[in-house]
Amino acid sequence: MIQASPRTNAEQIEYWNGEVGRRWVRRQETLDRVFAPLTAALLERAAPRPGERALDVGCGCGTTALVLAERVGTAGHVLAADVSRPMLDHARARAAAAHGEARAPVEWLEADASAHRFAPPADLLLSRFGVMFFADPAAAFANLRRALKPGGRLVMLCWRAREENPWVAVPLGAVLRVVPPPEPAAPDAPGPFAFADAGRVERILAEAGFGGIASEPCDARLVVGGEGRDSSDGDALEEATEFLLEVGPVAALLKGTEAETREHARAGVLEALRPYAREGRVELGAGCWLFRAVSPAAPGASG
Ligand SMILES: C[S@@+](CC[C@H](N)C(=O)[O-])C[C@H]1O[C@@H](n2cnc3c(N)ncnc32)[C@H](O)[C@@H]1O
Repeated sequence: MIQASPRTNAEQIEYWNGEVGRRWVRRQETLDRVFAPLTAALLERAAPRPGERALDVGCGCGTTALVLAERVGTAGHVLAADVSRPMLDHARARAAAAHGEARAPVEWLEADASAHRFAPPADLLLSRFGVMFFADPAAAFANLRRALKPGGRLVMLCWRAREENPWVAVPLGAVLRVVPPPEPAAPDAPGPFAFADAGRVERILAEAGFGGIASEPCDARLVVGGEGRDSSDGDALEEATEFLLEVGPVAALLKGTEAETREHARAGVLEALRPYAREGRVELGAGCWLFRAVSPAAPGASG
C-alpha cells in the first residue's frame, strides 16, 4: 500500500481500500447514472480542450478521467490519481474494455494526491468529489497548485451541507430513528461534507497560492431509483432504498449492525422515500459547490 502524507491520510486510505472502495466499484454504474447531471455541470465548467494535459484527483472508478481522455484526444494526456486500489483496478478494466490495448487513454496512478509530486504540470486539474478527504487541506492544495502549469485551472465539485442534500438527509433521518447517532465530528473533518463551507475552501485555495477563486452553487435533482427503464413506483422505491443504504453516511451508520436493525432501517428508509416516488422514479435534491481557481501565471509562483 502507498505511503500517506505526513499529516496522515492513513485512515482515509484504509477506508477507500476496504469495503467502501469495493462498494463504489459494485455501484459504479448506478453512481454515474445518479450523478450524471452534476458531472455534466463539472465538465462544462472545466471545458477540457484537445491537446491539454489533465489531472483527475481522486478519480475513483475512472468516469471523469475517461471523459477527459475523450476531450483532450490523442494529442493530450490524462493522469488519474487515487488512493483506492480496488477503484483504480476497476477504472483500468473499464478503460481496457472500452479501448483495448491499442492506446491507454489514461495513465492511472495509485498515489496520495496531497503529497505526490506530479510532473509534468497539467493545464487542468479536475475532481468530482475527490478532494474532501485530505487531513491537511492547506498542504494538499499547495501541492496540487504545483501540479498545474502557470495559468492552469482547477475545477472541482464538492458537496454542500448534508441538510442541502435531501438525497442524503432523507434516508439518514430514517436510519437515525433506528440506530444511535454517530460520535459528533468537527464539520470540517475529512469526509464528504468537509467542503460545505465555501468561504473556508476559498481561504484554503488562496493560502495555497491560487488566484481567480470562485464558487458557485450547483444543484440537481438526482434520480436515485427507477431511471432507465419502465418501472412502477414500488420497483423504483426498492431500487432507491437498496442504493441509498449502500452509500455515504447511512452505510457507515449501519456497518456492523444486526440483521434485525438493518431490516428496520431498510423499512424506515423505504417509507421516508415514498413521498418522492412518482411516475416510476424516486427523485431527490442535491446541492454542491463548483469551485474554480487558477494557478498564478506570474513568475515566482512555484513556491
Ligand atoms: C467520493 S469518491 C469519488 C470518486 C470519483 N471521483 C467519482 O466521482 O466517482 C472519493 C475518492 O477520493 C479518493 N481519495 C481520498 N483521499 C485521497 C487522496 N489523499 N489522494 C487521492 N485520492 C484520494 C478515494 O479513494 C475515492 O476514490
